[in-house]
Amino acid sequence: MKSIKDLKDLNDKKVLLRLDLNVPLKDGKVTDNTRIDKIVPTIDFLLKQNTKIVILSHVGRPGGKIVNGLSLKPICLKLENIINKKIKFLSKNIYEIHDSDLFKDGSEKIIMLENLRFLKEEEENNEKFSKHLSNFGDIYVNDAFSCSHRAHSSIDKITKFIPSYSGLQLDTEIYALEKITSDFKKPVTCIIGGSKISSKINIIRNLIKKFNNIIIVGGMANNILEYKGYNIGKSIKEMRVENIIKDIFELSITHDCRIYYPEDVMVSKEINGSPEEKRINEISDDDLILDIGPNSINTINSIIEKSKTILWNGPAGYFENPKFARGSLAIGKKIAEKNKSNNLFSVAGGGDTVFLLNKIGIFNNFNFVSTAGGAFLEYLEGKELPGIKALKQ
Ligand code: 3PG
Repeated sequence: MKSIKDLKDLNDKKVLLRLDLNVPLKDGKVTDNTRIDKIVPTIDFLLKQNTKIVILSHVGRPGGKIVNGLSLKPICLKLENIINKKIKFLSKNIYEIHDSDLFKDGSEKIIMLENLRFLKEEEENNEKFSKHLSNFGDIYVNDAFSCSHRAHSSIDKITKFIPSYSGLQLDTEIYALEKITSDFKKPVTCIIGGSKISSKINIIRNLIKKFNNIIIVGGMANNILEYKGYNIGKSIKEMRVENIIKDIFELSITHDCRIYYPEDVMVSKEINGSPEEKRINEISDDDLILDIGPNSINTINSIIEKSKTILWNGPAGYFENPKFARGSLAIGKKIAEKNKSNNLFSVAGGGDTVFLLNKIGIFNNFNFVSTAGGAFLEYLEGKELPGIKALKQ
C-alpha cells in the first residue's frame, strides 16, 4: 500500500480525497465533530504541498436518492469553520460535473462534492461512476478507513482508474490496529462489552488465538452468566447463543486464553431505579443487571495493571445513566492512568466507547481511538477490507 506521505512531488496536483464525513446531524447541524477533527492534519498536509483538493464523502444512507436532510452542505460549513479556509461546495448532480468545471477560479483550493450516496451507482461499485469520479483528480487518496469495509465506487473500483494512495489518517488507523492484533507486547487483553454477542463473536474467535485475556462485560456478559447456570432475572440477553459461548470456552482452552466475566454486578428493578450490589448467585427474577460490581472492577483493574497492550470495545453497563456508569468509568480511568505512565499501548473503538471517552475527557489518554464502526470490527475479525485490498493492488 502506497501512502500519500511517500510521494515526493505533489505540487499543483489535484487530489481526489475520499473522507468519511458521515457524522451525526440534528436539525441541519453537526452534533459531533470527532471524525471531522481527525482529518484536519490530512488537509493541512495537502495544502502545504500546494495541492488542490476535491473532497468526496457520503453521509447517512439515502439509498441512491436525494434526501434533503442528508446533504453534505452543513458538514462542509463545519469543516470550513474548523480549518478556517474556504471550501467550494458543488451541489450539482455529480454526473453533470466535468473536470473543466473544477478550480476555474485560481484562488480555489478545496472543493467538496455532494453526498455520493445520492447516486445509486456509489453503493453498486459501478465502474462507470468510478471512472467519472476519477476524472476529477490526478491522484486518489483514501483517508476514510471507516468506510473501507464497503466495496463502493469511491472506495474500491475508483482505484482501477487513477494512481491511488492511503491518507495519513488511514495509515495511523492501520498502524494502530496492526500493533494491537499482531505486533504487540504481551500480556495482551481485550475488554469487550456492549449487548450483541453474535455481532462480536468473530472478533472474540479471532483474538482468542493471540490474546492472553478476554474480559467480557456489558449485556454480552449476561449471556455468559446464564450459560454458566446463574439466574440473570429480566436482564437483556441474546437468544440462541449457547453454541457460540460453548465455542468461546473451548477455544480459550485450546489457545490458553483466560476468559473473564463479572463476579458481581449492580442490579435494579427498573432501568432508571436505584443500584443494588449483588454477587452473581444472588440475582432474583425481577432484577436487571445494569453494571459490573466493585469486585469485578478490582479484578479487571488488576488484569489491566498486568497488561502491556489493551484493546477496548463496548461499555461495561448502562453507562448512559450515571448510576450505572461506574464500571465503564473505572475501566476507562485505569487504562488512561496506566497509559500516562507509558506502561501500556491502548486502543479503543466503537461508537459508545468513543462517546464515553469524550464524555469523561480521556480520549487523548489512549494511544489510538478508532472512530470507525463496522470497519474497526471487521478488521478485528481478521477480514480483508475491500478498500484496503484495492489500495494494495
Ligand atoms: C460508518 O459510519 O461506519 C461509515 O461511514 C460507513 O457507513 P455505512 O455503515 O452506512 O456504510
